[in-house]
Amino acid sequence: MSDTVHVSLGDRSYDIHLGDGLLAQAGDLIGAQTARSKVAIVTDATVAKLHLQDLTQALDRAGIASSHLILPPGEGTKSWQYLSQTVEWLLAEKVERNDVVVAFGGGVIGDLVGFAAAILRRGVRYVQVPTSLLAQVDSSVGGKTAINSPFGKNLVGAFHQPCLVLADVGVLGTLTPRDFLAGYGEVVKYGLLGDASFFDWLEENGPDLAAGDVDARIQAVKRSCQMKADIVARDETEQGDRALLNLGHTFCHALEAATGYSDRLLHGEGVAIGCALAFETSARLGLCSQEDPSRVRAHLDAMGTKMTLADIPGDLPTAADLFALMGQDKKVVDGQIAFIMARGIGDAFVTRDVPSDVVVGVLEDALAQRG
Ligand code: GLY
Repeated sequence: MSDTVHVSLGDRSYDIHLGDGLLAQAGDLIGAQTARSKVAIVTDATVAKLHLQDLTQALDRAGIASSHLILPPGEGTKSWQYLSQTVEWLLAEKVERNDVVVAFGGGVIGDLVGFAAAILRRGVRYVQVPTSLLAQVDSSVGGKTAINSPFGKNLVGAFHQPCLVLADVGVLGTLTPRDFLAGYGEVVKYGLLGDASFFDWLEENGPDLAAGDVDARIQAVKRSCQMKADIVARDETEQGDRALLNLGHTFCHALEAATGYSDRLLHGEGVAIGCALAFETSARLGLCSQEDPSRVRAHLDAMGTKMTLADIPGDLPTAADLFALMGQDKKVVDGQIAFIMARGIGDAFVTRDVPSDVVVGVLEDALAQRG
């Protein structure tokens, strides 16, 4: 049984299929995207060990041969070195314009392979088969592809939509609790930015979802994908509304840079902390009630995920230095940072009108709580 969410983008429209055990249907679903009987799969060593055989066997059953490239896991793979290795491998595999490349992994693989597909022969089609919660609810949908630069995250990339997304929630069962909860930061983000009733539902069902309730996982992935599909259909290249999806991300990107994109802080953990800081800033600006940031923190706390700067191990820079790191964000225009603030839970908006001293004050207080 699977559900479908449609991403409506004219001739670049596609479906997100989601369900439990969907990998077994990958042959038919991916086969419907190509007239050829061979696909190239790019994955990482962790996913390959756990799930590659299931994918290749499903393709085999549908009469589709496959070759694969296995890259190292981790954020370091989103680099020029592995982009070049991927592109050269796809060329060596004689991947043509009408072929389909399969990105099989979490956000790192999806972003890297999507970018490789965008530039290979000026653009080939690709299928996202996301294996992490974060990738299933966010990075595999919407066509943002990128690698990192020493200047910052995702600074080199392209918009290139996949032709299909295949999200098997069954594979989430092999994630570590920490990786699962990191992805949950992106799920909460959807409730906070635009759907208060989804946030209510998460308060009620989040613990079951984390404990492995498959139906709750399907519902959470589906609602997240629906919200992302709606926003991307309205604003594919982030001229307006799509920036709402960056709730918490300006804080998050500064914290990731400050922690060296290391295991000290996973991206989704940074998003959760960033959402809490964005609500705190909104409350201090009088945009939302003081109860809203408390409610956000209480839910993240109940889920057992990172929620404040005190939860990040090791040293952090000063508030002023963290604020300076925010200035490297892609959304900076004429030196002005775009912030996603909130009038309440489920009611976020984009503004450049946030005084720097308020943000620095929020960061100073959060750093002070580290003791
Ligand atoms: N992850 C934010 C976006 O896709 O726009």
